[in-house]
Amino acid sequence: MSKFIVFEGIDGSGKSTLSKNVFQLFVSRNIPTELFREPTNYDTGLRLRDFLKGKILLNPDEQMKLFISDRRESVKRNIQPALSLGKIVLLDRYYFSTAAYQASEENSAQSILDLNLKENFPRPNKIFFLNINPESAMKRIQLNRNEIDVFENLEKLTSIRNNYLSILPVDTIFLDALKSEEELMKDVLENLEMNSDYESRN
Ligand code: TYD
Repeated sequence: MSKFIVFEGIDGSGKSTLSKNVFQLFVSRNIPTELFREPTNYDTGLRLRDFLKGKILLNPDEQMKLFISDRRESVKRNIQPALSLGKIVLLDRYYFSTAAYQASEENSAQSILDLNLKENFPRPNKIFFLNINPESAMKRIQLNRNEIDVFENLEKLTSIRNNYLSILPVDTIFLDALKSEEELMKDVLENLEMNSDYESRN
């Protein structure tokens, strides 16, 4: 069974909702599981959240370095301890996000991915990519949020999505983000070769 499962996707793809649903289901089946996200809730992650809200400015290189520092905290304090205890780790965003979001004229998505791969970060066993066209993602963001992050505009989401498509490993599982929550859960469970009987509690 996959131990370290990563969810990726552009803003508005619904990856946080899906990872929460998977977490709740695993817990209800008594499977020892932790759900983490990046950026973290540690100091590095809080600084990144200030940047995402537009409270501080960081250039792409500074962003990349800070996301990697935050990932060191994430690995050391969250991911590694849970994996060592034999738990399943569900992670909402990992280094594929840094490659897709912090790519710039100076640093290609691939070079950022390579930098991350050189660190001693554990490799995920399974990557789910919530695939959505940027127009639908923008519509969802505008409907659901009162605060808009720095990356949440059509042009940026389009290039972020293209960056993802250029670096995601060949064994990444693409999920159709426009499916219902129930259908997405079934797809995930089938993919993990787990019992896919699932009734939403909503
Ligand atoms: P998101 O995952 O949508 O979480 P929330 O629901 O808290 O908004 O937002 C995180 C944002 O951080 C998203 O815009 C992508 C960005 N991000 C990067 O730019 N690089 C990274 O390496 C990571 C992990 C996130």
